[in-house]
Order: sequence, then C-alpha cells, then structure tokens
Amino acid sequence: MIEYRNLRVAVLGGGSVGSQVADQLLTHRDELAARIGAGIELAGVAVRSIDAPRDTAIPRELLTTDAESLILSADIVVELMGGLEPARTLILQALNSGADVITANKALLATHGPELFEAAEQVGAQLYYEAAVGGAIPIIRPLRDSLAGDRVKRILGIVNGTTNFILDRMDAHGESMADALATATALGYAEADPTADVGGYDAAQKAAILASLAFHTLVPADAVYREGITEVTLEQVVAARKAGYVVKLLAICERLTDPVTGVDGVSARVHPALIPDTHPLAAVHGANNAVFVEAEAAGPLMFYGAGAGGIQTASAVLGDVVSAARRHVVGGPGVAESTHANLPVLPISSVMTRYQIALLVADEPGVLALIAALFQSHGVSVETVAQSVAVVDSLSATDAPSAATLVIGTHEASEADLAATVAALTTSSVVHSVTSVLRVEGL
Ligand code: HSE
Repeated sequence: MIEYRNLRVAVLGGGSVGSQVADQLLTHRDELAARIGAGIELAGVAVRSIDAPRDTAIPRELLTTDAESLILSADIVVELMGGLEPARTLILQALNSGADVITANKALLATHGPELFEAAEQVGAQLYYEAAVGGAIPIIRPLRDSLAGDRVKRILGIVNGTTNFILDRMDAHGESMADALATATALGYAEADPTADVGGYDAAQKAAILASLAFHTLVPADAVYREGITEVTLEQVVAARKAGYVVKLLAICERLTDPVTGVDGVSARVHPALIPDTHPLAAVHGANNAVFVEAEAAGPLMFYGAGAGGIQTASAVLGDVVSAARRHVVGGPGVAESTHANLPVLPISSVMTRYQIALLVADEPGVLALIAALFQSHGVSVETVAQSVAVVDSLSATDAPSAATLVIGTHEASEADLAATVAALTTSSVVHSVTSVLRVEGL
C-alpha cells in the first residue's frame, strides 16, 4: 500500500459540536486513519476565546484565535462557528486554498449556498454538510448519493427538535404552548430567543436544503413558505388527538403541478399540520427528528434519530471528514451539486392539500347548508363534518344556547381555493368565529 501523508484537519469553532469533533479526532485517530487509508491530524481549533469554558476539553496547544492562518495549513476545514460571517468568508478562503470544507451551518447554506458551491467547483474541492439537516441522521448523503438513481416525489420532515419537543409536551402532558416552551428552555432545547425555532425559520432553511438536493433544483430559503408553531393552541392539540391526529411542525418538499397553469415544479413549505396518529412521523417524540421520503422506485423511507446535540452532530461531521479525507487519498475533483433539473419553485398557492377547519356557528336551521354552499362556491369539496354543542365563554348568555362547533374536513383542494374559503367563512354572518385552521398531511 502506498503511504499517504498525514491529512490535516482544521476545526473552526470550539462550541458543543466543535469540541466533540476535536475530541473524537484525537481519541479515534488510528481507527479513522485505517478507514481513510491515510493518517489524520487535528491541526487546531479556532475559537473566539482560548479560555472560554468548554463541556469537552480541547488541549490548549491546539487552540488558536487565528482562524485564517489555521486554514492555510489544512487539507480539510470543518466550519462549526455558525452565523453568516465570518463563516462565509473563512469557508471561501478555505475552498480557494484547495481545502475541502465541512459545515453544519444551514443558515449559511440556505443563504449563500450557490456562492459556496460555485467556489468549490471552481477549484475542484468539495463542500460537505451532512450535519446541517437532522443532526446525527444520515439524510444528505442518502438524498445525494443513495437515491441519485431514483426520483424523489415528496419529503415530510420533522427537522426541528425544539418545536417537536414543545408540541409533544402539549400532546403528552397537556401543557400550554407557553408552559411547554418554558420547559424546553429550562431543559436547554430552546434558545434564550426561540424565534428561529418556534417561528419555523430553522426548519425552512433545512427544507430549502432538502428540496434542493431531492429535486436537483436550487430552492432558496426565501422561496420556502413558512408558518411557525406560535399560533398552535392546546385545544387544537387535544382535539387533534381525539380525532386520530397529531399536530407536528412539518417541512414538506414535493413535486407538483400547478392546478391552474399546469406548470410542473417543486414546492417547499413549513407549517404546523395534522398527521394521522398511525403515520410513522406521529411516533417521533421529544426533540428527535425524522425525515420521511417518498421516492418513485424505493417507495417510503424513514430516517430517524437525534436532530441536535454535540456528540450526535459530531458523528455526522466526522462521517464527512472521513469522506473528504478518502477523496484526498483517491484524488480527483469534488462532485458538483446537482441542479440539472432546474424546476420552477412554485408558490404556496399552487399546493394541493386538505384542511381541517373548526368553526363556531349559530346553531339554527339552514346554517349547515349555507356553509356547505360557501365551500362549494369556492370549489372546495367537503369530506367530513362533525358537529357538537359549543361551550364557549366568549359568547354572551343569549348566544350560548344557539352555538355549535363544526369541524369540517376537506378533500384535497388548492391552497388558493382553501384560503379564499377560510376568508369567506371569517366574514360570514352565520359564523361566530373560525377557531382552528390546520392543514392535513400524510394521508
Ligand atoms: N435548533 C435546532 C432544533 C437544532 O431545535 O432542532 C439545530 O438545527
């Protein structure tokens, strides 16, 4: 066997993932070298502060605050700093110096992905990002490599652990949204500012990455329709469970044909949705993640596991380190991102979906017929109707006896028609209020 020189790995960022990656590289150096076919050496870890406290200790002589010099001495650069800058500039410097780059930075990929991939292609380097979606779960490589011979039709993903934890607490413990968020914060799942998670921004960035890979099409993060979980109520979660559903924040990426124009394209969206309690995603509890992929030939596939965590995410990063190192040993340029399909990214109004709508209505003769006519006039077909006597504090004593709750499930219809129906319901004289509007997925 030809002896290959030691490959040098620079880690940028000494946080929970960075320090675990450094530790694993040092601890498993010989085993990794055997798998690579070349020695592997931790060149250093660039940090903001040498003396910052760390969960996993990094030998002091490996720490540096000079990321730029560290990059210049490396064959492989692992970016785990997060944020857009200086991560973007440092990655570009690393690629331009011929190093392969590994990143877990989904915000950076979703915002500056094309620029970074272009830079990698120019110099024949490779940009790896297994840890950017789903933490420890292998999902990038399955989409990019294992399913490259198939056609992905749809992805339904639980790709944000914090929101899954919150919704699961509401479902399993009957906690309000505010209490479940407080629990998530106390246990360290939610950040001090939870907006990126509860607002669906983190999931939308991951949806952009998954859709781009799955459909061989560049899907920018700002083309992902996004609703967070902040409007989800305990009442909705409890009612969903009674009706045989679970509320989940889903990232949905799919091929579709616009129902009006007939244009074939793709769409990516993030929003809370009802899924049947028998769907595999309904069994994803706590802060876990799962990605359910439907491919034409392979059929349904589910990828499940820890979506965050220092050592768990380090597993995905180290898999990329081994891949990058093997490529150095074998030689040849990195493989460019596949965007050959270049399909139009269609807006949310093109999506076909089902809704479940709960209404507080006047319980009087003819009301059901009026509401049914309203659905019909917007071209939305009603599948199920359930009525119960409403007990609602907000109604006056005079109104209360004549109020009923209607829960209407629709057949699949266009988002545009469904949105127009909900708007018309909101202003209808027989509807006191629209109390819940949720999409239904996974049927
Ligand atoms: N904040 C993310 C989550 C983890 O809650 O899943 C990092 O992507």
